[in-house]
Amino acid sequence: MAGAWGRSGTFLYVPRCSGTLPSHRVELWAHMNSFPDRKLIIAIDGPAGAGKSTMASRLARKLGYANLESGAMYRALALKAIEWDKSFDDEDALVELARNSRIQLEPAVSGNRVLLDGRDVTQRVRETDVTEGASRVSVHPKVREWMVARQQEMGAGGGVVMEGRDIGTKVFPNADVKIFLDADPVVREQRRLQQQNLRGNEAQLTAAELRLRDKRDRTRATSPLVPAPDALMLDSTSLSEDEVLRRVGELVQQKLADSCV
Ligand code: DC
Repeated sequence: MAGAWGRSGTFLYVPRCSGTLPSHRVELWAHMNSFPDRKLIIAIDGPAGAGKSTMASRLARKLGYANLESGAMYRALALKAIEWDKSFDDEDALVELARNSRIQLEPAVSGNRVLLDGRDVTQRVRETDVTEGASRVSVHPKVREWMVARQQEMGAGGGVVMEGRDIGTKVFPNADVKIFLDADPVVREQRRLQQQNLRGNEAQLTAAELRLRDKRDRTRATSPLVPAPDALMLDSTSLSEDEVLRRVGELVQQKLADSCV
C-alpha cells in the first residue's frame, strides 16, 4: 500500500488520486483539503430553522468550497416583484422579471452577500414581506425552471455546498453528497425566534408565518420539499451545531475516500 508516515506517527494511506486519507487517529478535517482534484458537489436540503445555513457555511469554510444559498435567489426575485409591483401569483410576469434581473450570490464569511442588479440587498431580503414572497414565487414551475438552470450553472464546476429545498432532488440529482437536515417543528420555531430576538406578538406572528411557509414549501405541486431517496437524513433536534458538522464531515470524508481507492 502506498503511503507515508505522518508527523504524529500515523500511517497515512496515499490513494491513486492526489491527497491523503486521515487515519482514525488524525483530526477529521485535517486532511480534507488535500484532495485538490476532487471538487465535490454537496447538496443540503431541509426546512427553515433546521440549521442548514449555519452548517452549510461552516462546512464550506472547512473545505475551502463556495457556499451558495439558493433560497436567496428566490428572495431576490420576490424583492424585485415587490419593487416592480408584480403579483407573487403572476407566473409569466415573474419569469419575465427574472430574465431581466441580475441576481448574484457572493459567498461571505457568514452566509451569502446578495446582489440584485448590482445593488446589495443582503439585509432587505431577510425581511418578513420578502420571506413570505420568496415562498410564494417559488411555487411556480417556470420560475423554478429558471432558478434551477442558474443554480446548475453556478455549481457546475464542483467545490460547492449548495443549500435549499430541491438541491438533491432537482438541481443536482447526481450530487456527491446529499444531506436532508430536519428538526422538530417546535425546536425550529424556537431557534428562529431566538435568532431574531423576538418576543410577544411579534414572535407569535413570525411563528405562524414559519408554519405557513413550511406547509407551502412541503405541499406545492412542483418540487416540494422532500428528501432525495439517497440523502442522509439528519435530525438536528437534539444535536449541537458541532455535532451536526462532525457527522456531515464524516460523510464527506467517506465520499472522498470512496472516490480515491
Ligand atoms: O432557504 P430560504 O428560507 O432562504 O428560502 C426562501 C424560500 O425560497 C423558501 O420558503 C422556499 C424557496 N426555496 C425553494 O423553493 N427552493 C430552494 N432551493 C430554496 C428556497
